[in-house]
Amino acid sequence: MHSFSGLLNGSMSRVSRLGRCIFANGRRFESRQSRLQLQAETLTDTPTSLDAPPFAAMFKASEIVNAAAAIAEAECIEQLKKTDAVPLLMSWLLGQESIVCSDPTTVAAKLRKMVVGGAGKTVVISDFDYTLSRFANESGERLSTTHGVFDDNVMRLKPELGQKFVDLKNKYYPIEFCPKLTMEEKIPHMEKWWGTSHSLIVNEKFSKHTIQDFVRQSRIVFKDGAEDFIQSLDAHNIPLVIFSAGIGNIIEYFLEQKLGAIPRNTHFISNMILFDEDEKACAFSEPLIHTFCKNSSVIQKEAPFFHEINGRVNVILLGDSMGDIHMDVGVERDGPTLKVGYYNGSLDDTAALQHYEEVYDIVLIHDPTLNVAQKIVDVINSTH
Ligand code: TMP
Ligand code: MG
Repeated sequence: MHSFSGLLNGSMSRVSRLGRCIFANGRRFESRQSRLQLQAETLTDTPTSLDAPPFAAMFKASEIVNAAAAIAEAECIEQLKKTDAVPLLMSWLLGQESIVCSDPTTVAAKLRKMVVGGAGKTVVISDFDYTLSRFANESGERLSTTHGVFDDNVMRLKPELGQKFVDLKNKYYPIEFCPKLTMEEKIPHMEKWWGTSHSLIVNEKFSKHTIQDFVRQSRIVFKDGAEDFIQSLDAHNIPLVIFSAGIGNIIEYFLEQKLGAIPRNTHFISNMILFDEDEKACAFSEPLIHTFCKNSSVIQKEAPFFHEINGRVNVILLGDSMGDIHMDVGVERDGPTLKVGYYNGSLDDTAALQHYEEVYDIVLIHDPTLNVAQKIVDVINSTH
């Protein structure tokens, strides 16, 4: 963290100011946005050098120095106030037993950039199953994924078909999370799992109405605080992209049922069930999205919400699987991605846990809440 005097000296040596304009590195910063950009640059790790603006010579050197000192000090205090919250959040994170943050310096640097950028530069890209939704209930019983909605409900109505969904899950879920297999080795199994599961759904021609009923009676449960988290993103105009290898329609029905409507800020990249004119399932959208292709290869850039996230250079990424860590790839930008990973596996599986610590900036162990993500967003929002 910069000390106050270091920050002030750094600003004075790189910045000169006349009236409402700031000159630095030969560039003129006038608008509030440009000033913030300059502040971010002076705060971040890239040192810059001063090229004095040519007409600075028209003013007495002492006037310029005094004016620059006064304004730089005010700016620095403003800037420090903004990033003040970061050490507080860091010490809270580092004080929690169930939170692992293996490189606090990097996390703090990413948070500082996000705080300076504010809500207007932020986008949240989140997985759904076992990230926004809970992995297990209070008694430790596994809850449902979006596909799992079919396991439970079909088992009640048509046990033979229901058993087929359950058998698929029992066979492939351990492969998805097996630490001994590489991603390349897992992919053919995932394609088989998704392909078979989607064929069962389409062949049965479930109606939209039946599926909405299935969702109503499902064991999909929001993580604690998820509703507030989604609403607070909406209130601060921070886009939420739900990037799910589950079933997008089921997420939509779930949000409609829980929140009354899908918030304006919420967008989906997912597998969508397509319905025929009688509203019966007849196909799935292409390309197929399984756990290990959640990246730019399946993102359709013509989706209207891409205009909305254009320029949002700071990404908060939330996931629970190794396949979630590339969800930001394809969103063109040069800002940081803060990766927050939910670890739902066994604590005895130290290899798996260590792997999560390597790929996620912050690992949340068996966390049934959205508290950490909410705190990060609150810190970003509190400063603007
Ligand atoms: P997601 O977490 O990216 O939304 O991934 C979807 C999860 O759904 C993934 O962990 C595997 C799981 N799944 C099922 O539970 N049943 C199925 O039939 C299929 C295809 C996937
Ligand atoms: Mg997931």
